[in-house]
Amino acid sequence: MPDRRKTARILSFDIGGSGIKAMAFDASGRALSERVRVKTPRPATPRAVLAVLKSMADAHAPFDKVAVGFPGVVRGGVVWTAVNLHPAWKGFDLARALAKAVRRPVRAANDADVQGMGAIKGRGVELVVTLGTGFGSALFLDGRLVPNLELGHHPFRKGETYEEQLGEAALKRVGAKRWNRRLAKAVKVLCAVYNCDSLLLGGGNGRRVSLKLPANVKVVPNAAGLSGGPALWRD
Ligand code: BGC
Repeated sequence: MPDRRKTARILSFDIGGSGIKAMAFDASGRALSERVRVKTPRPATPRAVLAVLKSMADAHAPFDKVAVGFPGVVRGGVVWTAVNLHPAWKGFDLARALAKAVRRPVRAANDADVQGMGAIKGRGVELVVTLGTGFGSALFLDGRLVPNLELGHHPFRKGETYEEQLGEAALKRVGAKRWNRRLAKAVKVLCAVYNCDSLLLGGGNGRRVSLKLPANVKVVPNAAGLSGGPALWRD
């Protein structure tokens, strides 16, 4: 008999401020489907986002379990913050609501944490930053997550936070050249503060990074936001 834990089909979601991505994997992280992207509904209330997740899940059936990367603080499947989606998310039990909708077990975590799980080497101090609508962050020690790190809303420069200076709105406002200059400053500060073995830059705007990076800093593909999902089911 095949071991169900190994053959299980995991549907991974990456909820972003502008798009919701989905892809299926096996437990070892091997891709089992193409990546599908749907625009994030606006207003991005729990009800509207749940409806999108449900229809994407139906299109991906059959699957055994679900992993979700969510753009805010998530603790025990419950959303604490969702700055770039909608205030109604605060206190919403995402894992429970989605499990009820798709009738499969669901695990949900912060999007940067999930992206990190898909991108890290699992050795030493690794800091992951995601550059997208928001500014996500995740810290790992020897592959273990240090939970709930939210650098995005920490003051960075000129009275603005990392997210205000380096989020999607800032990139649109100041253009790629100035945004890259700001990013270079952020990389310098983060390296000085964390003294990490590596700093990984992910997120949809990782592809806009054009500055020369120090040897321990590298851009990782945004696909890690989906491929990290199965790690939520590794006990
Ligand atoms: C949220 C983080 C999230 C990041 C990227 C920030 O606004 O506070 O939790 O990881 O955006 O989506």
